[in-house]
Amino acid sequence: MYQAPRGTTDILPEEQAYWRYIEQKAAHICQLYGYERIDSPAFEDTSLFTRSVGPGTDIVEKEMYSFADKGGNPLTLRPEGTAPVCRAYLEHGFHSRPQPVKLYYLAPIFRYERPQAGRYRQHYQFGCEAIGDDDPAIDAENIDLAWQFFRSLDLQRLTLQLNSIGCKQCRPGYLGTLHEYYTSHAAALCNDCRKRLSRNLLRLLDCKQPSCQEVADSAPRSTDHLCPQCREHFDRLITYLNLLQVPFALNHRLVRGLDYYTRTVFEIQPESGGAQSTICGGGRYDDLIEELGGKPTPAIGFAIGMERIILNLKAQTVPVPSLPGPMVFIAHQGAEARNETVRLASQLRQGGIGVIMATGNRSLKAQLRQANNLGAHHTVIIGEDELKSGTASLRDMTTAQQKTVRVKELPELLKG
Ligand code: HAM
Repeated sequence: MYQAPRGTTDILPEEQAYWRYIEQKAAHICQLYGYERIDSPAFEDTSLFTRSVGPGTDIVEKEMYSFADKGGNPLTLRPEGTAPVCRAYLEHGFHSRPQPVKLYYLAPIFRYERPQAGRYRQHYQFGCEAIGDDDPAIDAENIDLAWQFFRSLDLQRLTLQLNSIGCKQCRPGYLGTLHEYYTSHAAALCNDCRKRLSRNLLRLLDCKQPSCQEVADSAPRSTDHLCPQCREHFDRLITYLNLLQVPFALNHRLVRGLDYYTRTVFEIQPESGGAQSTICGGGRYDDLIEELGGKPTPAIGFAIGMERIILNLKAQTVPVPSLPGPMVFIAHQGAEARNETVRLASQLRQGGIGVIMATGNRSLKAQLRQANNLGAHHTVIIGEDELKSGTASLRDMTTAQQKTVRVKELPELLKG
């Protein structure tokens, strides 16, 4: 028997209500904040991701689904959504539109990770990017959007963590201090962190090994090494977040796993915590557009894992509106009546009424049971005798009351 590839899942009909609910809330909040939808291809040139996400990151080193197509072109299934949006911004000359250009996406993301609860090899992200403005008010607006989105979903007990990791002016100085500190504590580090010491210093700060965490707790903080511009930017962001009453905690160990970040970084987590629990991650990436060949263009964004939202909605037993089922079921008794069923079902559907018709030779009782299981509001029963007189029985499935009606009048009656 074939199974879905490891780390992937089918989204079954009974799960769809969650997805539609989240998608609708996402589209609605984006409209309120002026973000427009963009859809990019599922795959891009591999170098788009190696350049943007960074060669020393887990994503690029271990997790990309990369392949050469039949023409020998190196391609990669999108392992994140920011670089494709920046590529589209450049390709379509969005710098000539009013800035910032605010875009959102709902898209599948592919990462060859070790699957576990909340971590998949194909997952979906809802992401929002504001490109072309360095005003910290935009950072606050972007973070507020994420925060209000969770509120609109009725998700409780979330925490927002915030940090600033500086810019290309002040970060080298900070990294020098950090390197000195970590070199003097190398003996206490795990093997991975010792390797990271020369390749991806910032990531040492968010290592989950207890011995490394202790070292990280006392490590020099990026916020103590910001240049005056980054300092002012961060202070203003904090002022705006307080103004917006978005609660946050400063976390000097928050660094993110992608290389393109500058200044603001943030994550949103459920209070219950756990390594795979982050539901939203984002930050500024002021150098990325330039890195990809454009003019210097500051930007900020975030992405939220859709499956992790659903896990949290379920854990908090948040009721989700169910999807509308079929309104009407058509049952029949006898071969002639069956023909009429086919005709009537089509007529009603063309009139905008959702219909499921009974097929096969099951008893009327079995057909009514099926109608019940499907959640139909009404069942139209067509029998041989009724057929001759142009009538049918209309059964209200909630009250089980039945009345005789003219078939001709059914479209109007059922619409009502
Ligand atoms: P990220 O933190 O790698 O950031 O992913 C964003 C979110 O996607 C995570 O917080 C998590 O909820 C979800 N996620 C990530 N990996 C998995 C997985 N394997 N299975 C299930 N869910 C997952 C980014 O991708 C950045 N592009 C975010 C961003 C947008 N930064 C600026 N703009």
